[in-house]
Amino acid sequence: MLRNKRDAFGWGTIALHWTIALLIIGLIVLGYVMTRKNIDPEVQFSLYQWHKSFGMTALALALIRLVWWLASIHPVPVPTLTPLERRGSSMAHGLLLVLTIAVPFAGWAVASTSTLGIPTLLFNRVLVPHLPMAKSEAAESFWTEAHALLAYCLAGLVVLHAAAALYHHFRRRDEVLTRMLGIFRRRMASNAHQHPKGHDKWDDL
Ligand code: HEM
Ligand code: HEM
Repeated sequence: MLRNKRDAFGWGTIALHWTIALLIIGLIVLGYVMTRKNIDPEVQFSLYQWHKSFGMTALALALIRLVWWLASIHPVPVPTLTPLERRGSSMAHGLLLVLTIAVPFAGWAVASTSTLGIPTLLFNRVLVPHLPMAKSEAAESFWTEAHALLAYCLAGLVVLHAAAALYHHFRRRDEVLTRMLGIFRRRMASNAHQHPKGHDKWDDL
């Protein structure tokens, strides 16, 4: 089941969600580490190149995900959600979608406006053209600030988003997290197979 259904996320959404999540968490850590002052310049240069390569990969996947999201049906919210939670979570998801695109674009703008003019060579192989922007120190420092600010806003939102998912799983014991892990239906199916009429602990998950 690649595509979403009315009551479940398909594998397309699940694979994109977790791949992008891993990339973004890694990029935030890498971005923070590589910009520390006391780092060896050679190591720093190489970390910047990895950051740009994985950052452009995250951007490509985020754009694919946006198209996928626009073309998909959206599963109905889990029934245990209050109207306020529904509104809050859909706003948070919308903002996450926007920031996963805005942050790498701002990073691309940093590389494009830098007066150093260092090329962005994806994984040392594919040359990514710079955005058509004028190079200047003022523009570079504006985009550097904007990229950092947006990236740390994204980090804060991801922490809230992950905390909400864990709260639903461990406290509310509903299927918000398992639905995005793609294991809920399988558990229910195997449960139905083992206990065709029964109610057991899986029903309470
Ligand atoms: C950088 C990291 C992340 C980003 C950008 C992100 C983004 C998103 C977006 C945009 C959605 C909405 C999906 C849709 O409607 O198609 C979503 C759903 C979800 N995410 Fe994340 N996410 C991230 C990390 C995480 C983490 C770490 C967890 C869990 C610990 C998590 C758990 C979930 C769950 C459970 C849902 C489904 C919510 C529902 O059913 O309404 N996400 N995420
Ligand atoms: C979702 C993707 C990305 C995330 C989450 C991210 C995150 C970050 C973070 C947290 C920093 C450190 C900010 C600071 O503390 O000053 C950083 C710096 C940087 N990022 Fe990204 N980034 C992403 C994509 C990109 C892309 C696509 C590029 C370029 C093609 C890029 C280029 C840079 C550069 C050049 C810096 C260093 C700026 C400076 O010299 O202070 N980033 N990024």
